[in-house]
Amino acid sequence: MKAYIFDLDGVIVDTAKFHFIAWKKIGQEFGFELTHELNEQLKGVSRVDSLQKILNWAGVSVSEEKFDELATRKNEDYLSYVAQMNENDILPGVKTFLEQTKQKNIKIALGSASKNARPILQKLGIISYFDAIVDGNDVSKAKPDPEVFVIAAQKLGVQNEDCVVFEDSEAGVQAAKTAGMKAIGIGSADVLHQADEVFSGFDAILNQ
Ligand code: BG6
Ligand code: MG
Repeated sequence: MKAYIFDLDGVIVDTAKFHFIAWKKIGQEFGFELTHELNEQLKGVSRVDSLQKILNWAGVSVSEEKFDELATRKNEDYLSYVAQMNENDILPGVKTFLEQTKQKNIKIALGSASKNARPILQKLGIISYFDAIVDGNDVSKAKPDPEVFVIAAQKLGVQNEDCVVFEDSEAGVQAAKTAGMKAIGIGSADVLHQADEVFSGFDAILNQ
């Protein structure tokens, strides 16, 4: 394998919990309680698609203006949690794994749906590991569409079949498989059953 492509939220950094908290609050404004189970369907999904899903689950429709206001407010709330993050929020084993990947001369890319990806990598001091970054600002089609990973492979100058994708979301695993890449799930095999292999985290990969 020539390249590793990493998702961000829930793979490199423990931000998935902040997305969950912020969306849960938005849902509550409509009397809707977001569960952990339904939240799995929001992982890897863009901000606007996530809001649309929540409104559908809540059984409400809102004006375009209100929709934008809710999406903006969710992001401001999310960023207030992100602002309190530090290096300790990098998930266990990630830095060692990135270091080892560099030493093996395997290329490293980020393939994230988040529009906040660059500032988060910068804040955590790990942006320099990445040979290419593709985030929510660079794609027109959200996961499970493979676009984000296909662009990442192109930026790295490698074939799709030479890439391994690390993902914590069903949508992301599906995107990787559609792109013809190997998918390593980070999380639970019950959720990520389409992945080629599933690990609880990078510590588990390092210890295998
Ligand atoms: C993904 C997260 O990485 O990014 C989703 O799994 C999130 O939960 C999406 O909605 C978009 O993130 P952002 O930071 O652009 O709102
Ligand atoms: Mg993720």
